[in-house]
Amino acid sequence: MRVLITGGCGFIGSNFIRFFVKKYPRHEILNIDKLTYAGNLENLSGLEKNRNYGFVKADITNATQMRKVFKRFRPDAVINFAAESHVDRSITSPDAFLKTNFLGVGVLLNCALHYGVTRFVQISTDEVYGSIARGKFREDSVLNPSSPYSASKAAADGLVMAYYRTYGLPVVITRSSNNYGPYQFPEKFIPLVIFNAMNGKKIPVYGDGLQVRDWIYVEDNCRAIDLVVRKGKLGEIYNVGGQHERANIEIIKQILKTLGKPLALIEHVKDRPGHDRRYALSISKIKRQLGWQPCVSFQSGFEKTMRWYRKNGEWLKNTQTGAYRSFYRKYYSTLGLTET
Ligand SMILES: NC(=O)c1ccc[n+]([C@@H]2O[C@H](COP(=O)([O-])OP(=O)(O)OC[C@H]3O[C@@H](n4cnc5c(N)ncnc54)[C@H](O)[C@@H]3O)[C@@H](O)[C@H]2O)c1
Repeated sequence: MRVLITGGCGFIGSNFIRFFVKKYPRHEILNIDKLTYAGNLENLSGLEKNRNYGFVKADITNATQMRKVFKRFRPDAVINFAAESHVDRSITSPDAFLKTNFLGVGVLLNCALHYGVTRFVQISTDEVYGSIARGKFREDSVLNPSSPYSASKAAADGLVMAYYRTYGLPVVITRSSNNYGPYQFPEKFIPLVIFNAMNGKKIPVYGDGLQVRDWIYVEDNCRAIDLVVRKGKLGEIYNVGGQHERANIEIIKQILKTLGKPLALIEHVKDRPGHDRRYALSISKIKRQLGWQPCVSFQSGFEKTMRWYRKNGEWLKNTQTGAYRSFYRKYYSTLGLTET
C-alpha cells in the first residue's frame, strides 16, 4: 500500500509516521510538508534510514506541486494532517488558515479524485462543534465553530463530505479532542506551560483558567487514525476523544507540582475572544463500529509527556531558538521532486 501523509513534520503527523512506519514496514510512505514554523524535521530524525519512508517539501495549496506528487507517487491512501493549527494565530492572521485548511484540502481532493485514491482521510478536530456546557457532541451534532481556525476546519469537513456525495470520492473524517505528548510545538498549551515553568517564566492563563478540554494522548489518536484508515466506513465521521476532561488551570498546577515550581508563576491574562468553555466528545460510534477506545490514562500519559520534555530539553530549546531549522539541510526528496 502506498500512503501519502501530509503535514507529517508537525506534532500529530510525526507521531503518526513513527507509529505507522514501524507497524507497516511493507507500506510505502511519503510525507509531504511545507515546513512552516510548526513543521520540524527533527521530529522525524532517525527515519531517513527507513527504506519505506520518504519526505518531500511541498505545499498542499500548490496545485502544480500536488499534481506532480500524486502523479509520481500514485498513492492508494491519503491522510491529511497538514494545517495551520494554532487558534491564537488564526485570530491575528486568519488568511493562512483559510488558504491551507480549506483551499489546500480542495487541491488534495481534486488530486485524489483525478488519480483514483481509494481512501482519503481528513484529520479534523472537535473544535468544529464549538463549546458545550453539558453533555457530549456526537458526529451528527450541529457545527458551531468559534475561531477562524475551527471555522476553516469545519468548512474543509463540508468540502470533504461534498466530494463523497457528489463524486463518490472514498473519504473518512476523524475529529479528535486535544492531543498531548512528545514533539508538540511549545506554543501549544501543555508544552508551553512545561517550557515556561522549566525556565522560571510566567505562565499566562486565559481568564479564570476554567476552560475544560478533553485530553487524548497522541498515541491513542494514532491508533484510532490507523483503524479509520483500514476499517472506517466510507463517508463517515468518527469522533476520537480521550475521555479525560481537565480544566486548564488544573493541568498548569499539576505541571508546576511535578517540576517543583511555585504557583506564583501563574499569571491570569485577558481571555481569548470567542474562547470555547468546554469541549466534550461522545466516542460511542468509533467504539461500536471499530472497537476503539483510549487506553492511556491521563495520569500515565501525563507522566510520559513530562518525562519526554524533561529528557529532550535540546529539542525544546531548538524550537525556541529556531535551531530546528538547521535540520532543513537534511531535506531529501524521493521521486526526484525538488523542494521548491
Ligand atoms: N493538536 C491537536 O490537539 C489537534 C486536535 C484535533 C485535531 N488536530 C488536527 O490535526 C492535524 C495536525 O495537528 P498538529 O497539532 O500536528 O499541527 P501542527 O501545527 O503541529 O502541524 C501541522 C503541520 O502541517 C504543515 N503544514 C502547514 N501548512 C502546510 C501546507 N500548506 N502544506 C503542507 N504542509 C503544511 C506544517 O509545516 C506542520 O508540519 C491538523 O489538521 C489539526 O487541525 C489537532
